[in-house]
Amino acid sequence: MYTQSMDTSAAERGGPEDPGLQRRFDARIDAGDFIEAKDWMPGDYRKTLLRQISQHAHSEFVGMLPEGHWIARAPTLKRKAILLAKVQDEAGHGLYLYAAAETLGQSRDQMLAALHSGRAKYSSIFNYPTLSWADVGTIGWLVDGAAIMNQVPICRCSYGPYARAMIRICREESFHQRQGFDSLLTMMQGGSAAQREMVQDAVNRWWWPCLMMFGPPDDQSPNSAQGMRWGIKRVSNDELRQKFVDAAVVQAKVLGVSLPDPDLHWNEARQHWDFGAIDWAEFWQVVGGDGPCNQERLAARVKAWNDGAWVREAALAHARRQQAPAPARRQQGQEDISEVTA
Ligand SMILES: [Fe+2]
Ligand SMILES: [Fe+2]
Repeated sequence: MYTQSMDTSAAERGGPEDPGLQRRFDARIDAGDFIEAKDWMPGDYRKTLLRQISQHAHSEFVGMLPEGHWIARAPTLKRKAILLAKVQDEAGHGLYLYAAAETLGQSRDQMLAALHSGRAKYSSIFNYPTLSWADVGTIGWLVDGAAIMNQVPICRCSYGPYARAMIRICREESFHQRQGFDSLLTMMQGGSAAQREMVQDAVNRWWWPCLMMFGPPDDQSPNSAQGMRWGIKRVSNDELRQKFVDAAVVQAKVLGVSLPDPDLHWNEARQHWDFGAIDWAEFWQVVGGDGPCNQERLAARVKAWNDGAWVREAALAHARRQQAPAPARRQQGQEDISEVTA
């Protein structure tokens, strides 16, 4: 019951031996048409999408952890309600995305098993700790801000179920970004010197990992060209990163925080902000499993999965009962009543 019906026979019908299918697929991509779940698609297209959508879903789920830590510690009722809503949104994003990935032929149980065993990746940003309340605002402003930059182009992705899921997700991400900025602005404009320092410290720690969220530089990202050809990727990593930096510099000025990069300069010729070198060794170390919180995050997800076993068992038992023929159901119902009244 945790999977939906999957028709992969269309994929098996077509193959390299059937160039007509490939030609029609290419023509539809070129025309900007959506590819739907039951359409023929090349095996590598399906595999690439599955990897990307499941990683994206895992990121939404793991992404609840750093901020969830602060729900019980929020400074006011208003901030607590906002944070609760945001974290619940992220759970919803994960669910839309797991459902979109299931249309490609992999069950949610399979995807979660890959996450829990460490085989599947999620965004490395969530392996950093949230040390103060200002981290929550900074995640909203910068992490959700970077996510929006990354995700808006995916609303035009060639795979229909993914593109449609992203439209709804992006609307909610923009609320996430604004609530983070608002929380930081409140501390910077109306807060104490200690609160302003707390915000600056959080921005100093999150800035560089946020720039890494866009992935390796274009010349070290060998799969990007194929992703662009398939209409899965619409804008390159470096281009998205530059757009993010240009927007963040202006927003940082409004906030009154500095960005921790001495090489940040306006480039009149390029009409963009130049920025310093990113420490890619750190990025690969965190992606490889050796970041500050990798083990803690994975352990928390595995524990949540194990603790939720009774919910899955109860749901399956209920589904079996619903599917049982009517007389058996009546009899079961009677037994239940006698148990309750006994
Ligand atoms: Fe999200
Ligand atoms: Fe978000």
